[in-house]
Amino acid sequence: MKLDFEFTKEDITKIKADIFIIECRKMPGEKKKPGQLLRTDGGAALDKKLGGLIGRIITEEGLTGEAGCYKVIQTHGKIGAKNILVAGIGEDREFDLDTVRIVGARISKVAGELKASSVAGVVQPEKVEKFTPAERMQALSEGLILGGYRFERYKDKKAIEKQTFKTIKLICRGDTAPLSKAIATGTTIAEAINYARDLVNTPGDDMTPEVVAKEALKIGKKKGLSCTILDEKGIKRERMNLISAISKGSANPPRFIHIKYTPPRKAGARIAIVGKGITFDSGGYHLKPIKHIENMKCDMAGAAAVLAVMKMLPSFKPNVAVDGIIAASENMIDGKSIKPGDVIISRSGKTIEISNVDAEGRLIIADAIDYALQKKPDMLIDIATLTGGVLYALGEIYTAILGNDQKLIDKLISASKEGGEPTWQLPLEKKYLKGLKEAIADLNNTGKTYAIVISGALFLSEFVGKTRWAHLDIAESAWAKEERDYHPKGGTGAGAQTLIRFLMKY
Ligand code: BES
Ligand code: ZN
Ligand code: ZN
Repeated sequence: MKLDFEFTKEDITKIKADIFIIECRKMPGEKKKPGQLLRTDGGAALDKKLGGLIGRIITEEGLTGEAGCYKVIQTHGKIGAKNILVAGIGEDREFDLDTVRIVGARISKVAGELKASSVAGVVQPEKVEKFTPAERMQALSEGLILGGYRFERYKDKKAIEKQTFKTIKLICRGDTAPLSKAIATGTTIAEAINYARDLVNTPGDDMTPEVVAKEALKIGKKKGLSCTILDEKGIKRERMNLISAISKGSANPPRFIHIKYTPPRKAGARIAIVGKGITFDSGGYHLKPIKHIENMKCDMAGAAAVLAVMKMLPSFKPNVAVDGIIAASENMIDGKSIKPGDVIISRSGKTIEISNVDAEGRLIIADAIDYALQKKPDMLIDIATLTGGVLYALGEIYTAILGNDQKLIDKLISASKEGGEPTWQLPLEKKYLKGLKEAIADLNNTGKTYAIVISGALFLSEFVGKTRWAHLDIAESAWAKEERDYHPKGGTGAGAQTLIRFLMKY
């Protein structure tokens, strides 16, 4: 989706557009009161011009102003714009950047439905709650582009509906330079997230480890980046036996990917981000049941987030060196596949009894972490669709975060809040280590506890040594079972917002 943002000083009643956007806040209290139009974005003035029509419709149709609710009103030539879109922004005290993203997504949706090409609205030059106009414009551009996302690679090209929405006109009294910059930032982030969504939505047969590596090579050509790929022989040479073991039953061989970002100035820190790239997880000989196997092309969402982040770094040039590392493999069944009970020597030297072949993510990441440590990072963050257990711990939308360094975790949580990616910390409870150690080898890979998310993280903690480390389990947040907020059904691109916002603070 390509959008042009224009700034103008035109009059709100005269400006020509297919849709004029105004906002409606929710009144506090239990009772369902009608939402209230704002004075600051022209809503109240337009209502007057239309003889109170907007207010009447809000009351009669029970529009509460809740974030996400909306109503389209035709203006029949009474003002320059053909339609008014009233968008709910929730109660004042709940207002945040995610509210703005949701409004952006509603604009894209309505523009599509009305086959509109232009949308206009007012940018208030003041802060709204604690958010500056630039912050809000970045979030708006993110919401517009994320909400407008479609995955159409496999659809009949002739049958695809053309995108009509082209221009957004922003009426603005203040300085527009910081707003243009914020919109460019938001656009870069949203496009990278849409790229991650594309990778996740692509079926496993077209998104093999080799294809993931090709994407990495393409990204690695950008200025400031370099990329190294190891094939199955290279992986063996590096003694990453856990990755070799998991890929043994696959017709599509594994790849190990290292994209390096070097900042233009001396780096403030060196950070490794490690992504799980299981391009299809059948569960291996712990074969997944029908309900669980269906969406398992999503099991490379951690890798997709790493690629999206690396792709953005040359645009933002943060002052930090970043090693983007991906272990890419399938987890399949074959006469050559590993069997439950097999013991493998990891790259770190620790021996692992494979008590469950479906707990493969932690195995390939363990070897990838050991490789990453060789680059002597100050911090290491891994991102993975690691455990279905997050669903029971935190539900459908949360990313679970665990780690050994509270400062790093707090920074990531704060970046996730700004980025609208719900993230919640779980305890790295050492008592659950016992289950991981009950094995004929140094460790087994399941942990023998109901605290599946925690024992997954504990398993990884055995490989990070003293390095400051955080683990993001995106098993649920990476995939939307139903459309929500600004995420269409399917891959969400989870983690890319959080990580890039975290890195941009350097
Ligand atoms: N890829 C799955 C986790 C997953 C589940 C991702 C649902 C996305 C949606 C992972 O490899 C897995 O199967 N984990 C097991 C671990 C268990 C065997 C310890 C799980 O969560 O059941
Ligand atoms: Zn699995
Ligand atoms: Zn998996």
